[in-house]
Order: sequence, then C-alpha cells, then structure tokens
Amino acid sequence: MRLLYVVGTRPNFVKTAPVISALRERHPEGHHVLVHTGQHYDEAMSAIFFDELGVAAPDHMLEVGSGSHAVQTARTMERLEPVLLSERPDLLVVPGDVNSTLAAALVAVKLGIPVAHVESGLRSFDMTMPEEVNRIVADRFASQLFTHSAEAAENLAAEGIPADRQHFVGNTMIDTLVALEERFRGAGAAAKLGLSAGEYVLVTLHRPALVDGPLLGETVAQLVALSAQLPVVFPVHPRTRKMMEAAGGGAEAPGLILSEPLGYLDFLSLLADSGAVLTDSGGIQEETTYLGIPCFTLRANTERPVTISAGTNTLLGLDPAAISGIPASLDGRPPRVADPPPLWDGHAAERIADVILRVEA
Ligand code: UD1
Repeated sequence: MRLLYVVGTRPNFVKTAPVISALRERHPEGHHVLVHTGQHYDEAMSAIFFDELGVAAPDHMLEVGSGSHAVQTARTMERLEPVLLSERPDLLVVPGDVNSTLAAALVAVKLGIPVAHVESGLRSFDMTMPEEVNRIVADRFASQLFTHSAEAAENLAAEGIPADRQHFVGNTMIDTLVALEERFRGAGAAAKLGLSAGEYVLVTLHRPALVDGPLLGETVAQLVALSAQLPVVFPVHPRTRKMMEAAGGGAEAPGLILSEPLGYLDFLSLLADSGAVLTDSGGIQEETTYLGIPCFTLRANTERPVTISAGTNTLLGLDPAAISGIPASLDGRPPRVADPPPLWDGHAAERIADVILRVEA
C-alpha cells in the first residue's frame, strides 16, 4: 500500500508523528511518503519538532511559506498536485484544520485519492475562524474520519456523514505527549527560568481574532498586571511577535518572561509544571486536560467542549479583562486530578493504523 502523509504546521507534526510511526511499524512493506507543505518554516516552528519527535526528514518539501489564505492554499494545491500524481498514493492522511489540511483534501479528492482525516468532527460553529472552514471541507471529502471525542462524532452525524466512515480512536496529540513524557518531565524548563513548579502561568496567543487587532494591546497590558501577582511565561508565536512589533514593541515587567517559540519538550515541560495556562490554542486545551492543569481559554467558543466537561478548561470569552480574574479563580481550587477523556490513552494512532490497514487492504 502507498500511504502519503501531509503536514504543514507545528501542531500537524505533533498529531501525525505517531500515526506515521504506527503505520510504518504495522506495514513495513508499504510505501510511506511524507510531504511538508512548508506552511511553518522557521527552525523553531518546524525542524526542531522533526528532531524531537524522531520523524525522518520529509520526502517532499513544498516550501509554500506565508501569505494570505488564498495564496497559501493555492500555492499548496499547485505544488501538491504533481507530487500526488507522481507518488500515486492509495490514501492521503492529513490531520487537523490548517490551510495545508484544506488544500491537501481538495487536491486529493479531485484526483480521486481517498482522504483519511485525523482529528475529524471538531466544530466551533464559528465560520469567522479559518480553521472551521478548513475542517468542514476536510471532513466533507474524507472517506475515513478519525474522531477523538463523542462530540466530534455527534457533529459529523448532524452533518449527515455516514457512521461507517467514522472511527472513534482517541487523540493522537496525546499519543505524542505520552510518548515524550519521560523526556519532558526531565527537561526542567521552569527551573532553567528560575521558576518553581506550580507557581507561574504559561501563556500562548496566536489566533487572528485576538492578536491581529486592538485586543492584543489590551491582552498584553493584562499580562503585565497579572505578572505582578504570578510570574508569567509567554513564548511568542511569530504572528503575535509581528503584531506586537507593529504595535510598537514588546512588553516589559519584572514578572513577565517573553521568549521565542519553544521546542516541544521544553514547552511540555513548562506546561506540565505550570500552575495554570492561558491560551487561545486548540491543542493546548487538550494537553492541559490530559495533564489535569487549569486552562483559561481566551476565546468566545471552543471546538473542544470535552476539555470543558473534563473540568480543566474555562472559556474566558474574547475578553482580555477576564484575565484579571485568574488568580482568584485559582485560589481554593481543589488539587489537580488528571482524568483524561475516553481513549486519550497514548494508543490512538495504533487504532488509526489498524483501521486504515483493515479498510484499505
Ligand atoms: C496556523 C493555522 C492555525 C494553527 C497555527 C498553529 C491556518 C489558517 N492557521 O496559524 O490554525 O493554530 O498555525 O501554530 O492554517 N510565521 C513565521 N514563521 C513560521 C510560520 C509563520 O514567521 O514558521 C509568521 C508569518 O508572519 C505568517 C504568520 O506567522 O504570516 C502566520 O502564519 P500562518 O501559517 O499563516 O498562520 P498561523 O498563525 O501560524
């Protein structure tokens, strides 16, 4: 069997690494081809992940880089099509909801190549999010849809996607976390910054709705205020860095530590030792749920409601002023109990590989 995997961004690498590894292991005689669209390209956003996750260098680098949605998507489609024509995969496997996902699903379906979508069925019901459009399209055209939660399966059913295309397998991002646990627990990233476990807030922000407009300045002002009560560590995504610079520079406060984007081991180490996390990321809502860490999500909605019912995630709304309530909300909180959702157990990718080999054989 010829299997082709398409990845493009930081979270894609994390979600796909265990799938490639499980399929390679179960199907060593197969032809496995990895395509990196190049949507993320900085060393800290890409190469370091391949190293840490132990993924071999991609067979094809499309080097699409940054651009508007149309440019990035179109460039990916143009450059992926000849690769699919020459590699002739029996199945294209693609994760998540980024522009690379949308482009890959569209090119494949038009060439008659079946698509397997990993992390299928998530819905924020907010079409202003580029990711919502991307995942709806990918799901619509996928012939194998791998879900990580009951809500995802309900969303697909509500859209009329037949049950026999859906497979509830669990969360491949958590597979990677579980596989790296010994290494990130030993990384001591907080201590290297002079911080004690449980006594700081880890922050990540990168969504256009938050960082591409005036809310970014308000958010940074709130982070400065928060850092007077609790140290704040903020590895800054390149999009956010660019917008902060355009708005007149970074932020300075004794308790606020800004850094470049981190590798995954250092990031997970900081995450696991944090007292709380403030984020607008999707994956981090899941990682905190798995680890039992309080997460405050600076968004109006989440496509991952399972993280809220698990008790770890709180939606703050798209409202920087809500950041000031975090210390009070942490006070008197019961001790952490990690209680991951069903099948977030480190074996999702193995289930995916079993389904793919059964269905496609
Ligand atoms: C993309 C995804 C988003 C995902 C995020 C994970 C889409 C629509 N968005 O957002 O869903 O949560 O990845 O990080 O696909 N840049 C660099 N170096 C890089 C990559 C990006 O400097 O290696 C800068 C560029 O200025 C670029 C900007 O970041 O214009 C945005 O990058 P882009 O890939 O368009 O979107 P993300 O915000 O990273």
